Amino acid sequence: MQFSASSATATDVSTQCLVLPVFKPHQQAPRQTPAFEGVDQALGGLLQRLLSNGDFSAAAGTTLLLPEPQGIAAQRLLLVGLGDPETFSEPALRSAILAAFSAASKLTIEDVAAAFTDPLLEDREPEWQARLCAENAVKASYRYTHGKSTVNEAVTLARVTVLAAEGIDTSRIDESLALGAGVGEGINFARELGNLPANVLTPRHLAEQAVALGDNGALKVTVLDEDELEALGAGALLAVGKGSREPSRLIVLEYQGAAADQPPHVLVGKGITFDTGGISIKPSANMDEMRYDMGGAASVMGTFKTLLEVKPAINVVGIIASAENMPDGNALKPGDVITTLKGLTVEVLNTDAEGRLVLSDALTYAERFKPASVVDMATLTGAMVIALGSEASGVFSNDDGLAEELLEAADESWDRAWQLPIWDEYHKLLESNFADLANISTRGGGAGSITAACFLSRFAENYRWAHLDIAGTAWDGKNGATGRPVGLLTQYLFDREAEGLDADQLGPLEEV
Ligand code: BES
Ligand code: MN
Ligand code: ZN
Repeated sequence: MQFSASSATATDVSTQCLVLPVFKPHQQAPRQTPAFEGVDQALGGLLQRLLSNGDFSAAAGTTLLLPEPQGIAAQRLLLVGLGDPETFSEPALRSAILAAFSAASKLTIEDVAAAFTDPLLEDREPEWQARLCAENAVKASYRYTHGKSTVNEAVTLARVTVLAAEGIDTSRIDESLALGAGVGEGINFARELGNLPANVLTPRHLAEQAVALGDNGALKVTVLDEDELEALGAGALLAVGKGSREPSRLIVLEYQGAAADQPPHVLVGKGITFDTGGISIKPSANMDEMRYDMGGAASVMGTFKTLLEVKPAINVVGIIASAENMPDGNALKPGDVITTLKGLTVEVLNTDAEGRLVLSDALTYAERFKPASVVDMATLTGAMVIALGSEASGVFSNDDGLAEELLEAADESWDRAWQLPIWDEYHKLLESNFADLANISTRGGGAGSITAACFLSRFAENYRWAHLDIAGTAWDGKNGATGRPVGLLTQYLFDREAEGLDADQLGPLEEV
């Protein structure tokens, strides 16, 4: 998809479809953008009439398509509601941009021009508006086609122009468009990997996808097979994969955007390509959705896709622990005691608590990178869905500063998250009589997401670490993978880059 900024006016821009944001009419404090006023005038006051006679409510996120408007250059006019001007704020702007591009992507057109970036939409800066337009255009154009013998041949969006309102620098808008498109591409890549069925997306296939991502030489990709994992001592990852005919993999991606001596931010992903529960087998209802149990891994891959597009000046390492959790004559059994890469032994009381096992070895592996931070993503617990539903991912951390950085990135990207505690009292629940720790609570139910996070934290003691439980956010029922939390992670990394650039500028000052 091509993006560009244009200083053409809304009335003159030649496009298949002009997207025009519209406020609700307001008695005391009427407000419309200059683009609206211009178009309304060119159409002889049609827009004001539509608003006053109620044919278009302009409620935030509503749209109305007007074909063949007479008096402006555009072939179609897509009105998108911003809601009440008095209570207007960022969420209304977000829903307007989202609605505009999902409506536009369903039309049989290739080209759209959007009259955002107006300073009058003052809740967010023009660059932010442009970035969001690009991100949403890319996301709205995603179609899952794999394995379908008839693909809908409808025309898809190929060119998006964002109109730069008067006085706005088009080169800054261009940059924001590239950023938004890069994030959108990362999100779509994560969605595609998530949606692929588990008979296609195996640990080996995931590794191939990682290798392909690094093909142009911009990434270093290392794949450890089962022999190498054995030699390494990754007993927990291997234990989970034992019951499967598909061999397990540890996949390592390295992106270097800054000097080699800059400590990297490490992203760790749970890559269970299918989770039957193993011998502690799951009920059959909705078990198909356990193909999304590699959502953490998909978010790592998606984030790397964005890094390759946007090329921020930071170093990032991705570590994906991938296995298939199956019951079999060779499978891990309840009560088995395994030895992790860290050397800690684990009593496996439930083979369905497999995510924390594969992650424990990946978290230990992360130590070798002397990381600035480690964040793991995992569809870890059903209890997370009970606690936060599908709005927010759970955040757990051994470092309040890191948790705060992630929560800020979550708010900024609207890929929302909420922090839960991992107090010492919860750690006691994992005490085992037969190993260093148990993989589930030995003291009864409750706090399932927290005990899972406590388990992980035992393998993350040597660095700043956070865990995102994305069980409720990584996919949306039968609608498929959401690409979350790629939005959060990419924002978190861009913020770290900005911090690094600031620190460079402050460098000499610090020495004083
Ligand atoms: N992949 C599941 C978690 C999950 C379940 C995510 C449902 C989304 C929806 C994970 O491996 C799992 O099975 N966890 C168990 C842990 C339990 C055995 C302590 C769970 O949540 O039931
Ligand atoms: Mn499980
Ligand atoms: Zn799982």
